[in-house]
Amino acid sequence: MASSASSSSELIQRNHHITQTPASASSHSSPFTSSDQPSKTSGPAASMLLQRALFLLVGVAIAALFFHAVPASSPKPDLSSPVRRATYEVASEAVESGTVSAILGADQRVNFGGKVPLGLKRKGLRIVVTGGAGFVGSHLVDRLISRGDSVIVVDNFFTGRKENLVHHFGNPRFELIRHDVVEPILLEVDQIYHLACPASPVHYKFNPVKTIKTNVVGTLNMLGLAKRVGARFLLTSTSEVYGDPLQHPQVETYWGNVNPIGVRSCYDEGKRTAETLTMDYHRGLGIEVRIARIFNTYGPRMCLDDGRVVSNFVAQALRKEPLTVYGDGKQTRSFQYVSDLVEGLMRLMEGEHVGPFNLGNPGEFTMLELAQVVQEVIDPNAKIEFRPNTADDPHKRKPDILKAKELLGWEPTISLRQGLPLMVSDFRQRIFGEQKDASSNSATSQ
Ligand SMILES: NC(=O)c1ccc[n+]([C@@H]2O[C@H](COP(=O)([O-])OP(=O)(O)OC[C@H]3O[C@@H](n4cnc5c(N)ncnc54)[C@H](O)[C@@H]3O)[C@@H](O)[C@H]2O)c1
Repeated sequence: MASSASSSSELIQRNHHITQTPASASSHSSPFTSSDQPSKTSGPAASMLLQRALFLLVGVAIAALFFHAVPASSPKPDLSSPVRRATYEVASEAVESGTVSAILGADQRVNFGGKVPLGLKRKGLRIVVTGGAGFVGSHLVDRLISRGDSVIVVDNFFTGRKENLVHHFGNPRFELIRHDVVEPILLEVDQIYHLACPASPVHYKFNPVKTIKTNVVGTLNMLGLAKRVGARFLLTSTSEVYGDPLQHPQVETYWGNVNPIGVRSCYDEGKRTAETLTMDYHRGLGIEVRIARIFNTYGPRMCLDDGRVVSNFVAQALRKEPLTVYGDGKQTRSFQYVSDLVEGLMRLMEGEHVGPFNLGNPGEFTMLELAQVVQEVIDPNAKIEFRPNTADDPHKRKPDILKAKELLGWEPTISLRQGLPLMVSDFRQRIFGEQKDASSNSATSQ
């Protein structure tokens, strides 16, 4: 646009110069000399000169009009070789999304001021969701796809499952990459939702060194990617950063009470380090970041038998097994339904605030109260069985969500009694489907 403007003004000046030239070069031959200075040239020669000058003027005017009216026109690129074609396609995509970071690198990004060149339709955002095959990630992917975005899921399937995403297979706006975030990856995206990390104690304690590597090296890799392509980065941290809290409910300004050498530290301290890295990339390198501290979340597609209390109780009640309560059952937790969390994550990503933000449901339940709700919803005859408590299990957990309410306009809308029935049919189908498979397997082996 700027170049076309300058070329047209150049033309106008040139025009000006041309129209002046005859007068300045020779006052005798100019057709524009005034009548009180009669010209020596006259007759057919003069009228021919006048005609030529007029043609020139009209030509210049048409050219100027053309460059103003067609700013985006450019010579057709030579796409004969595959490499040139690929480069052209990457460049076109980058232009469409409003950034040419693909070609110029993060530091040289061009701001198109929201204008899409003529003939190019604006697409949705390109978003990577690490851990997108897991419980929370797959629900987030559903929302992003239904909003019209293009989503790339990066997952190593440690706890995630393709079945959680199978309904998107074949959608051109969806891609699934089997990849471990501990290894670097380069993708051209506008936003990164970084969820990859086993979230339940059973899974994160399975290989603690791998868990902390995922949290530290995996987060470093994703922040590096954000820096390289100029993407906005959102970290899903956890209420576990508050440890066994000495403040109740927990506000974001509370620094926590975490055992740095306990069996849960690979997760708690891993997430704390991930938060530190995120803030250092933001402060030191100007990366746009967002931090969510997620409190206990439940819903369809949670791993069965992963040691998280809601999935445990629901699976046990459906299987007609006793509900196992650890300790005296008086420790409290707050439970948020997954769609509320996804709404909070998306508001945080799209909003202007870095965080950290607590995202959780402040409704607080003791484990015994939760067991009673499960009895009400699934099986009134379910028995409760007490077991010794696990190490470093926090006594109380309840989010203060004032900050999210005020700055994100977000709060949960689904109560535990409304949300639990929504996950029962998914669990019933998976449990009894799996049991059928298991029995047919054992029948085969006998
Ligand atoms: N669900 C909750 O209650 C809760 C609470 C607090 C924080 N969070 C956080 O939210 C995120 C998602 O949790 P979730 O409940 O969906 O857990 P999940 O275990 O269902 O999902 C985690 C996903 O990450 C993938 N993953 C793990 N390690 C990976 C690696 N190295 N490379 C690539 N992929 C990897 C898993 O395969 C899985 O798909 C996690 O970061 C978790 O810490 C969840």
